[in-house]
Amino acid sequence: MSKIIGVIGAGTMGSGIAQVAAQCGHSVYLMDANVEQLERAKNGVSTSLEKLVEKGKITVEQKSSIESNIHYVGQLEGLSTCQLIIEAIVEKMEVKHSVFFSLEKIVSDDCILASNTSSLSIASLGSSLTKADRVIGIHFFNPATIMPLVEIIPAVQTSEATINEAVSLIQSWGKTVVLCKDTPGFIVNRVARPFYGEALRIYEEGLADFATIDWAMTHFGGFKMGPFALMDYIGNDVNYAVTESVFSAFYFDSRFKPSFTQKRLKEAGFFGRKSGRGFYDYSSGALSPEPTLNNDLGLKIFHRILLMLINEAIDAVFMQVASKEDIDLAMTKGVNYPKGLLAWADEIGLENILNQLQVLFDEYGEDRYRPNPLLRQMVKRKQTFF
Ligand SMILES: NC(=O)c1ccc[n+]([C@@H]2O[C@H](COP(=O)([O-])OP(=O)(O)OC[C@H]3O[C@@H](n4cnc5c(N)ncnc54)[C@H](O)[C@@H]3O)[C@@H](O)[C@H]2O)c1
Repeated sequence: MSKIIGVIGAGTMGSGIAQVAAQCGHSVYLMDANVEQLERAKNGVSTSLEKLVEKGKITVEQKSSIESNIHYVGQLEGLSTCQLIIEAIVEKMEVKHSVFFSLEKIVSDDCILASNTSSLSIASLGSSLTKADRVIGIHFFNPATIMPLVEIIPAVQTSEATINEAVSLIQSWGKTVVLCKDTPGFIVNRVARPFYGEALRIYEEGLADFATIDWAMTHFGGFKMGPFALMDYIGNDVNYAVTESVFSAFYFDSRFKPSFTQKRLKEAGFFGRKSGRGFYDYSSGALSPEPTLNNDLGLKIFHRILLMLINEAIDAVFMQVASKEDIDLAMTKGVNYPKGLLAWADEIGLENILNQLQVLFDEYGEDRYRPNPLLRQMVKRKQTFF
């Protein structure tokens, strides 16, 4: 059924979310405080739809009908008739609080107020509302038009009715929905941390260079991109900020410790692809460094990073962040992992994983390598995840 959807913030995420909703036949009000940004968003949506026409996925008529579904507005007042509003503005709690506070005076009592935040607490966002049972996290992945995963995050204040409505609406947009607890990094940005963090640690210990670690993960692990190529793609400024935010939100748990190597790149302005240099050099004519094609070394690197990822996925089950099914779905649909980490753990054997983690823990004596208590319990009981 067609609804009236509001999106606040016409940047990277907001314009994509607006396009997804408009393609599903909803009437969308896309609001941004910056008029030029609204113009850019309008052009961006048009270009993106044009590509769909070229590929034969939609007709020219459908393109113009989708475009006419989106109304570009410069004031929050333009969202007064919306039934669901997704906020996708700057990642600053005080700015989001102020927008939510103003919004509640404009919309009807039953309008759901959602945030696309990657890292902020939904409970805290809800604290700026009088009727807080309508607050919820609806976290899309970039680019929102293409990535199938959406994490839905109820806060302690959120009502069952709000959860049910948000889940069925986002599913009706063709998205794969996973439910998760209002905890730092939700599922994907929490469970994926070791992909970057352990790769950086391996580099810092001098075990291998970037190209070799990337080769190990793509060649032996089947990951689409290695950690360093991916960090350069995401942007070292953005990726470092997420790591730092998850680290501090977890009360400085050493599992999430950020790396000086990445911090220095960020400080130097070596953000990755977008700045022309990151872990790799993207200037024209630059040669790609060759990996050291040593199978023993490659397997050692791949196993160590995979063990850490699996331990993190197990912790998310242990801490009831989400169901085991949703955790595996999130990592395959949100960040394109070749397999769900828990299914992968079953395949390798939980006892095998526990033994390998224990070797790392004994060798380093650091808390970051501690095997998860759930893993120990499951090995004792000879259980598997699936
Ligand atoms: N970029 C990503 O990969 C990604 C992925 C998932 C979630 N997110 C989250 O989505 C949100 C938006 O991120 P983005 O990358 O699209 O940002 P962006 O910088 O591309 O866009 C933000 C937009 O919000 C507008 N804006 C800022 N303050 C405003 C206000 N008070 N009222 C109205 N408009 C305002 C800006 O003009 C800008 O156009 C953030 O919370 C971010 O954490 C981002």
